[in-house]
Amino acid sequence: MSEMYTKHAVKYAEVVKDNIYNALLERPSTMALLGDLQGKDVIDMGCGSGEYAQWLLEQSVGRLTCIDISEEMIDLVKNKFGLNVHAYCQNLSQGLPLEKDNSADVIVCPLVLHYIENLTPVFESVCRVLKPGGYIVFSTHHPFADFECSESGNYFNRELVEEEWDTVGTPVKVQFYRRSLTEISEAVTNSGLLISKISEGMIDEKAKDLSESTYNHLKNNPNFIFFRCEKVHTQQNIKSDS
Ligand SMILES: C[S@@+](CC[C@H](N)C(=O)[O-])C[C@H]1O[C@@H](n2cnc3c(N)ncnc32)[C@H](O)[C@@H]1O
Repeated sequence: MSEMYTKHAVKYAEVVKDNIYNALLERPSTMALLGDLQGKDVIDMGCGSGEYAQWLLEQSVGRLTCIDISEEMIDLVKNKFGLNVHAYCQNLSQGLPLEKDNSADVIVCPLVLHYIENLTPVFESVCRVLKPGGYIVFSTHHPFADFECSESGNYFNRELVEEEWDTVGTPVKVQFYRRSLTEISEAVTNSGLLISKISEGMIDEKAKDLSESTYNHLKNNPNFIFFRCEKVHTQQNIKSDS
């Protein structure tokens, strides 16, 4: 796991509050795919420092569960929100073994899946844990944007990429998986979920005041991709519901 989310967790928490990539591109684009959340039981998968948790609590969700692999991130979330959230450490590569079947109305999973090699167990768990009629909204690196990091030159290969990012004001090594749109969508649909919306996000005009060059880049190039996927009512789960 990258030190970005352990050693630098506190600095990361500070930066993502109002930076361009998270606050002015990723969060508004993910939030645009979410419906009314009042009273909904929500799981925040890969919750990080709790920027989403804060917003989800403001939407008056029902039970909010925050999950992350990083103990430092989970401590930040517990310190900020106390008993208002149920927060625990879990490597999501193993799915959601502690969550009950048909127990969540909504799952959010922003900017986490590119850290996970095999998406199959993740989406199988998501499908199991969502209530029929529930949905997940997730975002990840855009396959088109990440293809420029490819060493093999084969878009369809999954590749582990290592980069240094300046997110926290000092270069930190980060490893992530670049993969094709086909691989992402097959992991979703093979689990039984149905993709209902895909978006490539929209940079907020306010980014122009922070950095005109970054704004222009994000206005002209895709950076993240956003999915909403539904657990539809089948004849079988309609019967078991009634
Ligand atoms: C880019 S941050 C996003 C945090 C939060 N979702 C947000 O958008 O503000 C990625 C988060 O994913 C977590 N993460 C990375 N790999 C993970 C894994 N295998 N299981 C659970 N969490 C993971 C990191 O610890 C980090 O908190």
